[in-house]
Amino acid sequence: MTTPTIELKPTSSPLSDADREAILASPGFGRHFTDHMVIIKWTDGRGWHDGQLVPYGPLSMDPATNVLHYAQEIFEGLKAYRQPDGTVATFRPEMNAKRFQSSARRLGMPELPVETFIEACDLLVQQDEAWVPSHGGEESLYLRPFMIATEIGLGVRPANEYLFIVIASPAGAYFAGGVKPVSIWLSEDRVRAVPGGVGDAKTGGNYAASLLAQAEAAAKGCDQVAYLDAVEHKWVEELGGMNLYFVYGAASDQKPKIVTPTLTGSLLAGITRDSLLSVARDLGYESEEARVSIDQWRRDSENGTLTEVFACGTAAVITPVGTVKSKSTEWQQSEGKPGEVTLKLREALLDIQRGVSEDKHGWMHRL
Ligand code: PLP
Ligand code: COI
Repeated sequence: MTTPTIELKPTSSPLSDADREAILASPGFGRHFTDHMVIIKWTDGRGWHDGQLVPYGPLSMDPATNVLHYAQEIFEGLKAYRQPDGTVATFRPEMNAKRFQSSARRLGMPELPVETFIEACDLLVQQDEAWVPSHGGEESLYLRPFMIATEIGLGVRPANEYLFIVIASPAGAYFAGGVKPVSIWLSEDRVRAVPGGVGDAKTGGNYAASLLAQAEAAAKGCDQVAYLDAVEHKWVEELGGMNLYFVYGAASDQKPKIVTPTLTGSLLAGITRDSLLSVARDLGYESEEARVSIDQWRRDSENGTLTEVFACGTAAVITPVGTVKSKSTEWQQSEGKPGEVTLKLREALLDIQRGVSEDKHGWMHRL
């Protein structure tokens, strides 16, 4: 694997400081982009080359560019947080870099060296540091590394040319309501991924495949879709863009336990999911990976042993689940309020990311 150099070709920002500050005061999610981007090319026979940090701007593409037809594309999402001393740090970028390699392998694409992935993110954040929101709130700079097949032609086979690109976008809350429980539509007939498919790769097609179910959920008054396994339609997998956690025992004098669906190959190995297995233990809870059936979810909610459910991911951090609906049933989780364990985990994770509590797992990557 070649490790290319990235040449810096920045220009001054087209925005005034006041315009940028106005955006940072209320960034939303994925609506505004910083001044630069990093682009690195890959060509069969040459490997990675021509790495550049250049002004953010449109890409020009031939209509027959491979990705536009066969969706050979992968992406990542990670965040940079302003620390109390004014410096900036990203959260576990090597995990995103490794998942990007694993997505690339599954999609027949070239692997980018971990150190190049991290360097590209670091250079972009350093260049556009003025776009990293101030310390203290929940805002951060969301980084979106992605790779597309750029070979021109309609042949169906792995392309012989690719572009790796990193763009950045200041991010506030992913869900407009803040830490308000989201309502979930249980998809009993539409599936997100199948065994042997690409469910554990972060590729655009998984999201395209989830949009109709998401629109159907919205029509039923729900915010998000929870997918079940594609074979038995019984085991809970994840949401369209977040993993799930089930909290047991918070209402009793037992130690609370958080349980997340086992990685079966058809769900994404979330980095927030992985981090929470450890953060929970740090807080004195138990944590485990296990298969959770939809019947168990309903039964344990009704008998009061399952006290809270939450979704987690980079964009949405930790979001409580309130109402759960399907064609045949509907119930209310945690009386529709954010649960205590959910909120404690959320604060504990955000405190590590914001640099307020000790980084005992060595997760923060300082720039
Ligand atoms: N599941 C899916 C389908 C996702 O798109 C995401 C978001 O990246 C997650 C889970 C959560 O992963 P992470 O915590 O790494 O952001
Ligand atoms: C993320 O959390 O980074 C995601 O990718 C979820 C969604 C924005 C696709």
